[in-house]
Amino acid sequence: MNELNSKNYLFKEMEVSHYEKAAELWSVTVGLGPNDTRNSIESFLQKNTGMSFVCIHKETSRLVGAVLAGNDGRYGYIYHLAVSEDHRSNKIGKKLLTLSTNAINRAGIKRCIAAVKTSNAEGLDFWKKIGWNNLYELNLYSVVM
Ligand SMILES: CC(C)(COP(=O)(O)OP(=O)(O)OC[C@H]1O[C@@H](n2cnc3c(N)ncnc32)[C@H](O)[C@@H]1OP(=O)(O)O)[C@@H](O)C(=O)NCCC(=O)NCCS
Repeated sequence: MNELNSKNYLFKEMEVSHYEKAAELWSVTVGLGPNDTRNSIESFLQKNTGMSFVCIHKETSRLVGAVLAGNDGRYGYIYHLAVSEDHRSNKIGKKLLTLSTNAINRAGIKRCIAAVKTSNAEGLDFWKKIGWNNLYELNLYSVVM
């Protein structure tokens, strides 16, 4: 399953050729991190084939949504789910997420995790609205190497 149609939007598996437009969208929505270079994303997509998706607006051919998703054999991870502001509330976010979670589930993974900044009130509301549970008992730690 590479392409999925809706009336106004085309949903496709993300390829490295989408990187520039996706990174542009992510930079103004979720922000880019040190592992969001073209090479890093290319490597991520190769290791997690068929789990990340983009949404293209048919009329303008513009990339208006993207999600990066993968798994480590135990958990599925959702990163960088974002929809262009002028195309929100069209179920694009939910569709991108469903495509990713279905692909992760087909790989035998039963649980998915998404990290959302506590400062992103809108993002937090979205995850709650679509029925994901906040793991209040966990804190994330990181180190830049
Ligand atoms: C969060 C985001 C991806 C939602 O995309 P979207 O395409 O507008 O969302 P959808 O249209 O698919 O909405 C799906 C459902 O979530 C609800 N929803 C969407 N955004 C919401 C919000 N900010 N607060 C509460 N509910 C929200 C919709 O009402 C809809 O509910 P329904 O199915 O009962 O009708 C988008 O607002 C975005 O890109 N935000 C900036 C980046 C971000 O915060 N990403 C998530 C954190 S990583």
